[in-house]
Amino acid sequence: VAVHVLNGPNLNLLGTREPGTYGAVTLAGVEERLQRRAEAAGVDLVFRQTNFEGELVTFIQEAGIAGAGVVINAGAYTHTSVALRDAIKGVDALAIEVHISNVHAREEFRHHSYMAPVCVGVICGFGVASYELAFDAIVPLLEKRAA
Ligand code: DQA
Repeated sequence: VAVHVLNGPNLNLLGTREPGTYGAVTLAGVEERLQRRAEAAGVDLVFRQTNFEGELVTFIQEAGIAGAGVVINAGAYTHTSVALRDAIKGVDALAIEVHISNVHAREEFRHHSYMAPVCVGVICGFGVASYELAFDAIVPLLEKRAA
């Protein structure tokens, strides 16, 4: 079982970017936490970040074709990208959408997600723990699918 954790634009700035909203943990810190969890669960972790929409499409395709689960924080592309939605659907990826912040408590334009309808579910608002919650949620789903 493998999980690809995919990060979109500006998440490379985590730790210094709007710390009041996104906290002080860096993206490398998030990767470290997930790596520990993956080792404990016997799961292969692939952790990636890009600022380019098309590259995120490619990452989703690669994960889906490999039969890996997808935990995706697409950042602002969540609210704008039909291409990401089509990629998840196109490779039939088992995906969970995550956000560090509670997007529903923020500006109206963050309330809509193009991806959410093609994901198993959405986890948002728990800080970087949103990633860990999503990881814990996706592993049993992948194991069930592989059985
Ligand atoms: C985010 C929320 C998005 O609205 C925003 O554009 C981000 C980060 C989050 O993790 O809370 O870049 O996805």
